[in-house]
Amino acid sequence: AKITFITSDGKTKTVEGTSGSVMELAVQNKIKGIDGDCGGVCSCATCHVHVKPEQWNLTGAPDELENDMLEFDENVSEYSRLSCQIKVSEDLDGLELTVAK
Ligand code: FES
Repeated sequence: AKITFITSDGKTKTVEGTSGSVMELAVQNKIKGIDGDCGGVCSCATCHVHVKPEQWNLTGAPDELENDMLEFDENVSEYSRLSCQIKVSEDLDGLELTVAK
């Protein structure tokens, strides 16, 4: 699937992935602002992204564990997700994510 990242400096980068998590894809492609410090176990929130409201159905809502982690982040929005908890699949094709500050 092709996934586009919008970084805090206003740049957009579209990358393609077939497996793993969205965080891993972002780290592999050196997307600014996605660090994945905890390695994808939902305990650092350095992979925080905002989903476009109209694409919320593609990613779905965070589960309880992810929500608990998101609460620690100041820039959390209604459409926040931790990208390590989003699995890359063809269903995500065309997804646009704004990297959280
Ligand atoms: Fe740490 Fe996602 S990589 S919470």
